[in-house]
Amino acid sequence: MTVKIGVVGGLNMDIHLFGGDDRAEDGAYLAERYLIEPGGKGSNQARAAARLGADVLLVGRVGGDEFGRLCLDATIGDGVDATHVVATDEQRTGFVVIQLVEGRHRSLVFSPGANTLLSWNDVLPALDDLATCDVVITQSEVPTDTVDALVRWSGESGVPVYLDPASPQQASRDSLLGAEVITPDRLEASSLTGRAMHGHAAPILAARDLATMGIHRSILKLGTEGALFAAEGVLTSVPTRAADAVDETGAGDVFVAALAVRRAAGADWIEAITFANAAAAVSVATSGLALPTIEEVEPVAREIGPPRILS
Ligand code: RIB
Repeated sequence: MTVKIGVVGGLNMDIHLFGGDDRAEDGAYLAERYLIEPGGKGSNQARAAARLGADVLLVGRVGGDEFGRLCLDATIGDGVDATHVVATDEQRTGFVVIQLVEGRHRSLVFSPGANTLLSWNDVLPALDDLATCDVVITQSEVPTDTVDALVRWSGESGVPVYLDPASPQQASRDSLLGAEVITPDRLEASSLTGRAMHGHAAPILAARDLATMGIHRSILKLGTEGALFAAEGVLTSVPTRAADAVDETGAGDVFVAALAVRRAAGADWIEAITFANAAAAVSVATSGLALPTIEEVEPVAREIGPPRILS
């Protein structure tokens, strides 16, 4: 049975700059190469879920410009229903410059543009469709009020909303507490808890902090270290497959999409997190946004070892 995923979130045009770690004599950083392509957490998650076989509906905003058209074309090209992505002339499409060194983000400059205009009024026309979804995903790349209203709607409608708290400063306490699950990465978990991420134990302590804050289910995305799952007083470490990162951009979005698709298909949380770890490991091995298919992810998921209960 095909699962149905809704996404309310951001669309951006991304520039990836590879190897920009050396300075020229005039002080400019030198990148070895670059690529420009559609991104944005909402669009990435929607496209990733569609590539994994889900029916997907995306709600968002782009500018009435060339970048907006390219972002829309990319989502539609992957089979996402983008009927509820509004193009506006009031703002330009969101834009991000990502500096990568050895496949990892060194710096990121974000101009959110049209994403800042995504209001609850934009979501209302999509609510009948969203109500038929197995899972709705959102992120703090769009306005806090809109995310808060979506999480409140989730409480009324019974449709689970997964919240990716990026940027964490924009995630309200109500949304963190009301979401079915939150999926911060290391930096986001640090920002949410105020805990410095130094040393092996820091993510474990941060996961416990999130539980103490009253968040009933958190998954910390830890890249090569897999994921930490905190729920119902139990902390579980879910391993991943080691992968040489070429470009980690969007791997967290692929993780969230894979998690939602697998949960919607009936998997338990640990099985779904293992699948999500595998999807992210496949994704980081390629330049640019790499959106794996189910056939690419499943063999990797089978290679991953068992989870370990930490408490
Ligand atoms: O998660 C990756 C995404 O974050 C990029 O595509 C970029 O647009 C930023 O929003």
